[in-house]
Amino acid sequence: MTAPVDPTTTQAWQKLADLADDFTPDLRGWFAGDADRADRFTLDAGDLHVDLSKNWISDEVRDQLLALADEVGLAGRRAAMVAGEHINSTEDRAVLHTALRLPRDAALTVDGQDVVADVHATLDKVYAFADQVRSGEWVGVTGKRIETVVNIGIGGSDLGPVMVYEALLPYKQEGLACRFVSNIDPTDIAEKTSDLDPETTLFIVCSKTFTTLETLTNARLAKAWLLGRLESAGLIEGSDEARAEAVAKHFVAVSTALDKVADFGIDPANAFGFWDWVGGRYSVDSAVGTAVAVAIGKENFADFLAGFHAMDEHFLTADPAKNVPLLMGLLNVWYVNFHGAASHAVLPYAQYLHRFPAYLQQLTMESNGKSVRWDGSEVTTDTGEVFWGEPGTNGQHAFYQLIHQGTRLIPADFIAVANPAHALRDGDADVHELFLSNFFAQTAALAFGKTADEVRAEGTAEAIVPARVFEGNRPTTSIMASALTPSVVGQLIALYEHITFTQGIVWGIDSFDQWGVELGKKLALQIAPAVSGDDQALSHQDGSTQSLVRWYRAQRRH
Ligand code: F6P
Repeated sequence: MTAPVDPTTTQAWQKLADLADDFTPDLRGWFAGDADRADRFTLDAGDLHVDLSKNWISDEVRDQLLALADEVGLAGRRAAMVAGEHINSTEDRAVLHTALRLPRDAALTVDGQDVVADVHATLDKVYAFADQVRSGEWVGVTGKRIETVVNIGIGGSDLGPVMVYEALLPYKQEGLACRFVSNIDPTDIAEKTSDLDPETTLFIVCSKTFTTLETLTNARLAKAWLLGRLESAGLIEGSDEARAEAVAKHFVAVSTALDKVADFGIDPANAFGFWDWVGGRYSVDSAVGTAVAVAIGKENFADFLAGFHAMDEHFLTADPAKNVPLLMGLLNVWYVNFHGAASHAVLPYAQYLHRFPAYLQQLTMESNGKSVRWDGSEVTTDTGEVFWGEPGTNGQHAFYQLIHQGTRLIPADFIAVANPAHALRDGDADVHELFLSNFFAQTAALAFGKTADEVRAEGTAEAIVPARVFEGNRPTTSIMASALTPSVVGQLIALYEHITFTQGIVWGIDSFDQWGVELGKKLALQIAPAVSGDDQALSHQDGSTQSLVRWYRAQRRH
């Protein structure tokens, strides 16, 4: 295992620290003094047009950030990742989400496995299934075609599929819809199935490990719902054979653990596999995206994968000074480690991307929320900022106040597309243009603010001038694309995957494990008997937990 380089011992870190000491951001001055600034810091990556110029970036800052990437050996680590070296050290696994979108004629053999052949064999199986459902050839147990696909999964087995499904709704086949059940709160499955017809519903049980409590519980509830409804309506008999046939027609699975799929009662012939070298949060472009493939069809899904691949190629081959994921990841390091930023907003001006911030929360925070490095030693600097956001303009009317005038530095990514899916007009006004005017206005307001003199010049009473001053110099990145196509959605996801990777490498952490979610899961299993009334089990809990469980038990009506 190559030991991580301590970034704080590098020359570049020292130079960045010196730069940060004297750093006074002056976006007004920088733009006024440099007519080329917007051009120089605007880059294209695939179909994404990315303006970095409203960041706290100068040629010197950029060059030192790139020197830092060099000194920590980022290029070598990136090459190791795509070649299939086991860079996920704590799980001793390769990290090959980039292989999920390699074209069919690419070659990659890792640990004796012909990765490209396996990826495309699975894709072909997913596409054949998607075709069957879309064409109506796949029918339920009573012979009716499928109208609703319910994906049951959580974390990476939910957030990616639901985000992409929502993002690509205009590409969805008429007459087919997907729903997503994730939470073990029984409300979730109860609400999502309440108006469904079991004869036309198909469940995809999606779980990399096929051991996840939430998903398996929901899958059992779904099975009981399906069989109960079919039997009570007299549509199937109550025999084991009839039930098995119904399950075979209404359940498929996505997992790396095909033996466990069979134990659950799903025919492995109706299961789509993937591999331990795909992390859950990096898996929407594997069979985990089956619900999406059913909804949008194989051609669109192939475009989606091509989008990822285009961004991979950019990350792997673009000149570092023009490499968008590299620069965005390094800028995040600049803000977190040299300017104390603790969070990062992602603000899509595209309603179809409304689940993108939630998706990114798992991608970034499960990846980089770590306190030890990949060799087990402690990190030497802050890691993992909080990612959050909501679609514009909703966010403007909720939390932008704090971004504009609060005391904390919150770098923000603004995302928008030029061509809307719905070109509506309000009288003479093109509504998308009203929408995008907000996108342009917000980043300008954040960057350039409003001085006290400008406020006074508007005739504002002196007493409230301070409250109406905008300091400006709030850094933003604007990411634009022509339209929200499957390829563009793939490019956006891959962009953030590589930003996450870049930050993780600088910090020396394994961005591909997630041990931090294990403890709570184990404790939940230990506490479960106490919650159900086992006083002996309750007595082993801490005082606060005992008191809370007792209160719960006193309140609960069965
Ligand atoms: O609890 C975290 C996690 O392991 C995620 O990393 C993963 O995406 C999610 O649970 C679901 O896991 P699985 O796909 O194995 O059900």
